[in-house]
Amino acid sequence: MHIQFNQSRPQGARLIAHVVDKGKLPSATNAAMRAGAEAARFRGNTGQTFDGFVEDGGEVARLALAGAGEKNSDARLANLENAGAALTAKYQSSGDKELVLDLSESDLSADEAAHVLLGLRLRNWRYDIYRTKLKDDQKITLESVTVVGGPDGIEDAWAEASALAEGVEFTRELVTEPANIIYPESFVARCQERFEGTGAELVVLDEAQMEELGMGSLLGVGQGSSRDSRILAIRWNGGGSEAPTAFVGKGVTFDTGGISIKPGPGMEDMKWDMGGAGAVAGGMLSLVKRKAKANVVGVMGLVENMPDGNAQRPGDVVTSMSGQTIEILNTDAEGRLVLADALHWTQKEFKPARIVDFATLTGAIIISLGNEYAGLFSNDDTLSKELADAGEAVGDKVWRMPIGKAYDKLIDSPIADMKNIGGKGAGSITAAQFLQRFILDDTPWAHIDIAGTAWSEKPGRTWGKGATGFGVRLIDRLVADTAEG
Ligand code: BES
Ligand code: MN
Ligand code: ZN
Repeated sequence: MHIQFNQSRPQGARLIAHVVDKGKLPSATNAAMRAGAEAARFRGNTGQTFDGFVEDGGEVARLALAGAGEKNSDARLANLENAGAALTAKYQSSGDKELVLDLSESDLSADEAAHVLLGLRLRNWRYDIYRTKLKDDQKITLESVTVVGGPDGIEDAWAEASALAEGVEFTRELVTEPANIIYPESFVARCQERFEGTGAELVVLDEAQMEELGMGSLLGVGQGSSRDSRILAIRWNGGGSEAPTAFVGKGVTFDTGGISIKPGPGMEDMKWDMGGAGAVAGGMLSLVKRKAKANVVGVMGLVENMPDGNAQRPGDVVTSMSGQTIEILNTDAEGRLVLADALHWTQKEFKPARIVDFATLTGAIIISLGNEYAGLFSNDDTLSKELADAGEAVGDKVWRMPIGKAYDKLIDSPIADMKNIGGKGAGSITAAQFLQRFILDDTPWAHIDIAGTAWSEKPGRTWGKGATGFGVRLIDRLVADTAEG
């Protein structure tokens, strides 16, 4: 969606939108529209919409109102995003190609106005490339938004926010693509295209290099797949000489469960088992596009988990790059095996000051937290607080869960250093304990289990059904608040 800025309203605009604070209708409404709004109980509550037709200089235009709620709400920015999102949700297939957003009567700051645009743009995203038979009235028609009467500085504010939108959209694209299209090599290729010319440095490890490094844990997961595994690192040095913040993502491009195969119904969801890697790729894109003044590296462990004559078996013992051995008791607990080597390599290669990993790691986190909060597990109170605050601010919410020695014991193995599953209870925690065994010297580390938040069965604040882009905004905000000047 193209967004442009104008001083005055373009001639012949047919769809003109206003963001409305609770109880304040714009002066362009006429008596009929005011009566209609009243009858429809439109009050300007957050996300409410109402429209009617007005005559203006001899032309008839549709006037759309989007509620932004109370002006001095604590959730003001989120409410403004919701208002923008409500407009695209309603008009993206209306037949109109252009929406004029008239801000001349609102007193939004540049930052606030940019949030309206962010909501508009994010909610308009849909991935229709495989739908060749859409009827005209099902297609997205909305192509551009023209902002008139916006506040000073809105163009700069939007330049920053649009970098964020690009990141979120990239993540959604990667997550939405089916597994016959996005597999480790093609995931890398898609990133190479997207980061071309941005100044980011991409490093790719193939299977021979990973073998050389001793990554038996990651390679074991990909062993049953005809797709080769990869590690991708994206580096951005926008800061000084300080050690980077590392983001690490689980990129299982399809998770059948392997020999411990998953039941058929719902298995198609496992195309988005690369949502952690997707979030890291999109987060990096946002940072790079807005030229963040920080040193950051994003590392993605990319594998496909398939059953096959060469697949690993329950009971197999593998040796990870760290030297620690792992008894594989369930080949479906594969994400942690991928992350074990990705985390170890990240620390050896980049000596990060802190590490945050993202992974669609456990079904158990959906039992614990549903689809509202992602699970946060960490060895560091400061990093935890920073992530919780950043998440609250941008809507990628995380809730801290406990970890500790007693849980750690649950993954001791009689034959190897550890086993890859715990017992019946605390499935998300034992998964986190497993990851923690690969964190060196108490480096501040946080693990975010996004199994419940990467994908949505119903439309949400700024997304339609499907990939949410969870994590991108959290990454961007954490870096902005804690690593930049
Ligand atoms: N990718 C799954 C977790 C998952 C489940 C993500 C549902 C999104 C939605 C993960 O690899 C997995 O299979 N975990 C197992 C672990 C178990 C075998 C210990 C699980 O959660 O059942
Ligand atoms: Mn699995
Ligand atoms: Zn998985």
